[in-house]
Amino acid sequence: MFGQDVQSHVDLSVSGAQSAISAETEPVVRERRTRKIRRFLSVVSLISLLGWVTPPLSKSRRVKVRNADVDWDQFDPESYIAVNYRRVRDDDRQIVNLIGDHFAQAGLKFRPGVKGNSRGVGDSERPAASTVVAVDVGCGANLYPALSMLPFAHKVHLIERGAANVAWLKQQRLKFDHNWLDFWSILRGGRPDYERVRSPRTMFRQKAEVRQGNLFDLPVDTYDLGTMFFVAESMSTEYEEFSGAMTKFIGSLHPGAPFAVAFMEDSHGYEVDGIQFPAFGVGKDEITLALADIATLDDVARVTYGNGEQLRADHHAMLVAMGRRC
Ligand SMILES: C[S@@+](CC[C@H](N)C(=O)[O-])C[C@H]1O[C@@H](n2cnc3c(N)ncnc32)[C@H](O)[C@@H]1O
Repeated sequence: MFGQDVQSHVDLSVSGAQSAISAETEPVVRERRTRKIRRFLSVVSLISLLGWVTPPLSKSRRVKVRNADVDWDQFDPESYIAVNYRRVRDDDRQIVNLIGDHFAQAGLKFRPGVKGNSRGVGDSERPAASTVVAVDVGCGANLYPALSMLPFAHKVHLIERGAANVAWLKQQRLKFDHNWLDFWSILRGGRPDYERVRSPRTMFRQKAEVRQGNLFDLPVDTYDLGTMFFVAESMSTEYEEFSGAMTKFIGSLHPGAPFAVAFMEDSHGYEVDGIQFPAFGVGKDEITLALADIATLDDVARVTYGNGEQLRADHHAMLVAMGRRC
């Protein structure tokens, strides 16, 4: 790549000079041009040499922040909501519609009040357990992933590490704030599974169970459906922890269980109430790779912001991966 850039620069300067050459001055100009090219190439090789002996600046300056290094109790839910979820943005609407369709089409047959029905993966494949349990991992101060699973589960476990977020979730479980009804009405739109729910607030209170915990300690083969939104890439600067979180989350589901996972595309950190939190920059490739051997992917959708609704000037899109555990 670098070689190609060098070559094209040299070619350009040669052709630019050529048009200005007259017959008499040609030897002088050629000599000057050759000196220029030699000077340019020596600077380029010096830069290349430095590149070999020193790591790129961004890497040498990069601060490594592991998940366990962060005090997640400092994560402030109210400030987070004020920036992210107080009102429904266009990208939220797109994401909520994507996951509403995904879970509605996944064939989950549970109906409120009917015990014993379960994943619609064919009667013979139904799990023996009579309780369908969903999980939202690292739910923080966002209820819409849990709401998207509500009609399909007897229980929804909300697993979160930060103490302030856990306290906020416990209080929201009793009667969640009005803004979440706006997210719910998007889920309802034309989807009978959600339309049948008379009171999402009551159903949430009955089904949600808040648990303070660490995603790296998730139990295996436990849940019938799951979500993990803006967590795997937004809790550490390290690739190993991103892919480890993905493996843990998918491994906590039963084989065949549907899931949705969302990511901030190419994020390198974020601030909540003046405190900096780490992120590992991901794109479709990293997500697909992390899920390659453990899940069947239906889609990795790229969701961009509506006009003037960008959360940060340097941020452009979210990614939502939907599929089933292998
Ligand atoms: C960027 S926030 C995402 C919150 C929410 N899921 C959303 O969609 O907006 C990352 C969340 O992951 C939680 N978290 C970080 N490390 C965790 C861990 N090891 N186990 C469980 N949750 C964790 C944080 O406390 C925080 O609530």
